[in-house]
Amino acid sequence: MKKILVIQPIHEAGIELLKNNKNYEFEVVENIDPEYLKKKIKHCDGATIRTAKLTSDVINEADNLKIISRHGVGYDNIDLIASKNKDVTIAITATANAVAVAEHVMFMLLSISKRKDMYDNTVKNGKFDERNKLPKTVEIWNKNILIAGFGRIGQALIKRCLGFEMKVFVYDPFVSKDVIEKFGGIKIDNINEVCKDMDAISLHVPLNENTKNLINYELLKTMKNSCIIINAARGGIIDEIDLDRALKEDLIFGAGLDVFEIEPPSLENPLLKNNKVFLSPHTAAFTKECMTRMGIETVQNIIDFFDGKLEESKIVKL
Ligand SMILES: NC(=O)c1ccc[n+]([C@@H]2O[C@H](COP(=O)([O-])OP(=O)(O)OC[C@H]3O[C@@H](n4cnc5c(N)ncnc54)[C@H](O)[C@@H]3O)[C@@H](O)[C@H]2O)c1
Repeated sequence: MKKILVIQPIHEAGIELLKNNKNYEFEVVENIDPEYLKKKIKHCDGATIRTAKLTSDVINEADNLKIISRHGVGYDNIDLIASKNKDVTIAITATANAVAVAEHVMFMLLSISKRKDMYDNTVKNGKFDERNKLPKTVEIWNKNILIAGFGRIGQALIKRCLGFEMKVFVYDPFVSKDVIEKFGGIKIDNINEVCKDMDAISLHVPLNENTKNLINYELLKTMKNSCIIINAARGGIIDEIDLDRALKEDLIFGAGLDVFEIEPPSLENPLLKNNKVFLSPHTAAFTKECMTRMGIETVQNIIDFFDGKLEESKIVKL
């Protein structure tokens, strides 16, 4: 009987998979204190994890651990060196959340372009007659969007952008021109050269030493003052201080952020008071449907791993 530690609750549909499988016993824990997790993980064969940190201390304490199954696709909260040293496989829910995040990007892009709440407030406040005096909204039809990072989410997003008849440019040095063109995109090689022509930019790269502060003041200075930037990837890919400054100087029109350098962001973070920014609390993937899919895939990855049939595409290369 394999022992699975479910760190942080997941959707009941995932739990059902464990309940109905006689080869597994499991425990769900909400306490994510490392000292507590060290005791709990000691004799476990597998663990699931959401956003809590899985430090080397905790991983090294696990005598039998073979797999950590991440509820999501980012794995920056898991100590990779400790996992590698202990020969622990890390799995991700590779097929569960791309559509939910891509829809959230469209939601942010349209919310900013259409000045979300403006018309609604106008009517509700009895100011219908002022409709001609309000600032105009903008269309996304025929506009240029840059998708930076053309993996699962970038590829889900391009379909939605093309549905709105946007012109889509793609920056991803690791994806060929052929593949990008098959999707209907235009491959670009130098992000610094194209930003000046973009009406929208959406980020879908991992956070690493090459992408940290990819969007900074120098680059923001080159952009159109009508440009909208969306970050539903990882905080830190846009320099937050630079972004706030660029918005205040009207260098760009607006920004949509689902992720922050520090989460939760401090109340002192100037972006929280900037009304040109549309924010969400790292919830791009939190649709009902996606939470169900992620709960199921997180557990299924563990079962597939022990059955020897976990797909390569779901395993993090350590
Ligand atoms: N907001 C959320 O809730 C949420 C949910 C899921 C994923 N994410 C984040 O979204 C991002 C994308 O996720 P994904 O599932 O599409 O990942 P993915 O691994 O499928 O795709 C990432 C792409 O980025 C490209 N890339 C890597 N380095 C690059 C660089 N320096 N410049 C340009 N491109 C580069 C890779 O070639 C790859 O195609 C990740 O940061 C992930 O953590 C956020």
